[in-house]
Amino acid sequence: MVNSKNYILAIESSCDDTSAAILCNTKVLSNVVATQEIHKQYGGVVPELASRAHQQNIVPVVHQALAKANIDKKQLSAIAFTRGPGLMGSLLVGTSFAKSLALGLNIPLIEVNHMEAHILAHFIEDETRTPPTFPFLAMTISGGHTQIVKVTDYFTMEVLGETLDDAVGEAFDKSAKLMGLPYPGGPLVDKHARQGNSLAYDFPKPKVDGLNFSFSGLKTSILYFLQRETQKNPDFVSENIDDICASVQYTILEILMEKLQLAVEQTGIKQIAIGGGVAANSGIRTRLKEAEKSLGWTTYIPKFEYCTDNAAMIGIVGYLKFMEGDFTDQSVAAKARYAIGSK
Ligand code: KG4
Ligand code: ZN
Repeated sequence: MVNSKNYILAIESSCDDTSAAILCNTKVLSNVVATQEIHKQYGGVVPELASRAHQQNIVPVVHQALAKANIDKKQLSAIAFTRGPGLMGSLLVGTSFAKSLALGLNIPLIEVNHMEAHILAHFIEDETRTPPTFPFLAMTISGGHTQIVKVTDYFTMEVLGETLDDAVGEAFDKSAKLMGLPYPGGPLVDKHARQGNSLAYDFPKPKVDGLNFSFSGLKTSILYFLQRETQKNPDFVSENIDDICASVQYTILEILMEKLQLAVEQTGIKQIAIGGGVAANSGIRTRLKEAEKSLGWTTYIPKFEYCTDNAAMIGIVGYLKFMEGDFTDQSVAAKARYAIGSK
C-alpha cells in the first residue's frame, strides 16, 4: 500500500561491498557500506572470500542501517535487493536474506538490476544537485563495468555500447599494479597524474567500432613499455611515476571522451550522466566540465557515495518500482549475468 511516507530497506551484495540503506521515498535516511578489506592483499576481488564476508556482514549492516535511520523493521514498506549482475556467491547472500526478511515481515520484495541502479542513483534526493531530465546518456564506469546507455525513462534503457574485455576501473587498477602501486590503484594513478605531463608518453588507443570499448590492449602495451624502459633504467618507474600515470590516465580519458562524443553525435542527446567509482577521477570531471563549455553538454555526477557500489541506489530503484507496484515473487533467483532491460 502506497503511503505519503514509504520506507524501503535496500540491500546490495553484488561484488565486494556489503551495503544496506533505508530510504523514505526518494530521500536516503541511512546508507551503510562495509567494504571488504580482505581482498587488498590479493590485488583483486576473490569471489569465495567475498561471499563469506557478505555472510558475516549482512546482519550487522542491516541492523546499523535501521538504527541510523531510526526506523523499526515493522515500519518497512518493502525490501529491495540486487538480483544481478555480479558474482553469484555474493548475490546469493543478499538475495536469500532479502527474500527471508520480506517473507518474515510479510511485505513486498523488489528485485533490482545493479546496472540500472547505478544510473537511477541520479534520482536520489539531493539538495545540491538537480537530476537529469529524459532522455539522457548514462555512462557507468567502475571496476566492474563500462557502459553507455540511452535512458528514455526510468525503466526504458538501451545499452548503446559496453566493454568487450576489461572494465575501465580494471584498466586503471592493472596499470597501477604494473607500476607497483597497491590495489585499488585508480585513485593513486589519479593523484600522481595531477602532477605529471599527460603527453610525456604515447600509448595506443584500441580501434573498436561503434560505441563498444576495449581496455585489455592498453594494459599489454603499458606492460611492454615498462619492461623496455626498466631494462634501460631500473629506476624508470619511480623516477617518472607522475608522467607515466598522467599519460596512462590521458589515454583512458581520451577513449571515454571519444566514445561519449560519438554517442552524442549518434543520438543528438547532450545530457550526460556518469556514475561508478571511476566517476571520482579528477581528470574525467575536468574533461566533462570542458565539454560543457566547448560542446554545449550538460553533465551530471552524483555524490561520490552514490557512485561506488552502495545500497542507496538500489533503494531508489526499489522506491520507483514500489510506486508502480512492480513486485517480485518469492521464486526469484539471483542472476549473475543480467542485461539492462531483460527479465
Ligand atoms: O564502483 P566501484 O567502487 O566498484 C565497482 O563496482 O567496481 O569502483 C571501483 C573502481 C576501482 O577500479 C578504482 O580503482 C576506481 O573505481 N577508482 C578510480 C578513482 N577512484 C576509484 N579510478 C580512477 N580515478 C579515481 N579517482
Ligand atoms: Zn557497480
